Amino acid sequence: MGTTLVPPHGGSLVNRFVAADQADALRAQAASLPRIEMSAKQACDLEMIATGAFSPLTGFVKEADFSSICTDMKLADGTVWPIPATLAVEDDVKATLETGGRAALYHSDGTLMAVIDVEEIYAHNRDIELDGVFRTRDDAHPGVAQVLAEGNWLVGGTVHVLTVTPEVEPGEQFTEYRLTPAQTRAEFERRGWSTVAGFQTRNPIHRAHEYLCKCATEICDGLLIHPLVGETKEGDIPADVRMQCYETIIEHYFVPDCTCLTVMPAAMRYAGPREAVLHALVRQNYGVSHFIVGRDHAGVGDYYGTYDAQEIFDTIETGAIKVTPLKFEHAAWSHKAQGMVSAKTFPKLEGDQVFLSGTKVRELLAKGERPPAEFSRPEVADVLIEWATSLATA
Ligand code: ADX
Repeated sequence: MGTTLVPPHGGSLVNRFVAADQADALRAQAASLPRIEMSAKQACDLEMIATGAFSPLTGFVKEADFSSICTDMKLADGTVWPIPATLAVEDDVKATLETGGRAALYHSDGTLMAVIDVEEIYAHNRDIELDGVFRTRDDAHPGVAQVLAEGNWLVGGTVHVLTVTPEVEPGEQFTEYRLTPAQTRAEFERRGWSTVAGFQTRNPIHRAHEYLCKCATEICDGLLIHPLVGETKEGDIPADVRMQCYETIIEHYFVPDCTCLTVMPAAMRYAGPREAVLHALVRQNYGVSHFIVGRDHAGVGDYYGTYDAQEIFDTIETGAIKVTPLKFEHAAWSHKAQGMVSAKTFPKLEGDQVFLSGTKVRELLAKGERPPAEFSRPEVADVLIEWATSLATA
């Protein structure tokens, strides 16, 4: 029996990789083009565009899309899109570019990644980006600080991608887990899945995460644990350590036949509600039909309300996105109930639930102590202890 996965956002999956027989000619052309060295965020966006994870985008956004995304959460043609993929450049780089020409896009390690058709060069209107996407202009917000530090000009146009893998310092590429949307969809089809629950995370997996994943798996054919491994802010736990946590918990506490682990190479923006919509749409492109949105999804500090990232989905016209948000209340272990609960499933009793701050967890790990088993599975805690204690002795 065939499976029917959710369609990609906008109808079809984009693929911006150039055909192998055209790569040499493009490389030769690139040698004489103006150079743009991409930031880590831009390189992540390039990969998301190239693989179709950002479908229907085919390049870095042009002005009409940029403005309409920031103010209305839509592309100029009305398709829902919450965060612009921008190619910001400084004044000196802008001076080398010509509208109607092309430019070569390089990774910071010197690898030639792509060529862009310079269809537009326009002023970077940071105010509408910050107000629309981040809901704040506070430079203490890591996503805001990044936009404020970016260049004054945005280059919009279609990309022709040669590679998304840097050559000189490849770092941790997670090659075996780095499936494109098309490959991820093929894997779901191989498994016979039609409905898939998608779980975004940028943290080591704890008991509340596990609870959300398992509740969602109950109503779908399978689960995609889909950690973000692109650029994250300083202080977040490195992706390779997190990957060990996901592998470990799957081995000990999940059913491999119902669980798929692959990575999403996007950069974090910490844009809370707008980023929750981006995360959901991107997962739709990967074939996910149901997307988990818990407490303060993609938030940072106190910039967003606990459930803002859930409520934003209520503002989207019915049918405009095909992925269904699965909204979860704040979950924690209850001693009285002897299980994971939320305010919807168990009354709040004084001192009953296990809450630990990130700072407290880090303190414990650095001392080589496991957080309580009600908070973190011991096998996962041990992976984190090994990392935290190696930092302390480094
Ligand atoms: S995020 O930036 O990717 O959202 P994190 O990895 O911590 O951060 O969270 C992954 C998902 O789990 C998000 O949907 C988040 O809202 C949800 N989540 C995290 N902790 C809890 C919790 N205790 N209760 C309910 N949802 C949670």
